[in-house]
Amino acid sequence: MVAQFLKDGYEVFASSRTGDLSAFNSHKNYRFIQVDFADPFALHDAFEFVQANVVVHCGAMSRPDDCELSQAEAFDTNVYGTVQLLLNAEAFQSFFIFLSTDFIFDGKKGLYTELDEPAPLSYYGRTKRDAEEAVMEYQYGWSIVRTSFVYGKPIYGRNCFVSMIAQKLRSGTAFKIVDDQYRTPTHATDLARGMAVIAAERKEGVFNLAGESVVTPYQMAIATAEYLKVTNHQLAAVTTEELQEATRRPAKGGLSIEKAKAELNYSPICFEEGLALTLT
Ligand SMILES: NC(=O)c1ccc[n+]([C@@H]2O[C@H](COP(=O)([O-])OP(=O)(O)OC[C@H]3O[C@@H](n4cnc5c(N)ncnc54)[C@H](OP(=O)(O)O)[C@@H]3O)[C@@H](O)[C@H]2O)c1
Repeated sequence: MVAQFLKDGYEVFASSRTGDLSAFNSHKNYRFIQVDFADPFALHDAFEFVQANVVVHCGAMSRPDDCELSQAEAFDTNVYGTVQLLLNAEAFQSFFIFLSTDFIFDGKKGLYTELDEPAPLSYYGRTKRDAEEAVMEYQYGWSIVRTSFVYGKPIYGRNCFVSMIAQKLRSGTAFKIVDDQYRTPTHATDLARGMAVIAAERKEGVFNLAGESVVTPYQMAIATAEYLKVTNHQLAAVTTEELQEATRRPAKGGLSIEKAKAELNYSPICFEEGLALTLT
């Protein structure tokens, strides 16, 4: 998605383990290379082939519950994989951009700035914090982008929270949603647009790229029901304690975007607009 926000003249190689499912593969800047970045030999070959000026590392074991249950795999993907990418990037002196999360924080404060101290509650958060620390050691220019609760039109199969809730609403399925955890939901196009600016201008340092609304997942779900004009829904608000999840999540998460607004001209859409883009 970052490719569509870069001007002509860039050649963008997207990558994943399983193949090219992107909706952007007809874009003229777009190429694809299939590689498992936790496989050092395959990764080395990929770097030799692409010789990237800029590496944008978004790949991860991204579901916190999976990371909690399969910690060795989470470490291999999120920490070891990032270190492998950094080592290869070093050989080509590439600028390195790493996508991170507000789950590196403990959720006591909320609306975290780039200067706040990470204190992850979950194994997922720990792996992302550890990967960030490795990125900060990189010597050829780096940027860490932290984001929060990404949503948008499903473009390669996987539902986001909003589209999943829309399915529950349309089918009248009963569903419990947490209402005491706060996030700043981020529309995927805002994130991609901000990352394209960072890549094009090689902006160094930590940047929060998130939405501006501070809401709970339940509030997001109710806004989705209102947008779809579903009044007799089966959505129920629950507390974190009632949910009894294996993974601890920040209560007051979310990210302050003042730095990105000032330095990247970042201007995200509001949640209502994001809903419309996601559901139409
Ligand atoms: N979603 C959110 O709300 C959110 C919030 C904050 C931060 N983030 C961060 O944003 C990034 C993307 O998250 P997402 O929710 O979009 O995750 P996702 O849908 O699970 O996508 C993860 C991607 O990583 C790739 N990947 C995983 N392991 C790989 C490996 N060993 N080699 C090559 N590719 C690999 C996957 O490719 P395959 O499918 O081919 O395996 C997939 O394309 C992650 O870094 C996550 O930590 C997400």
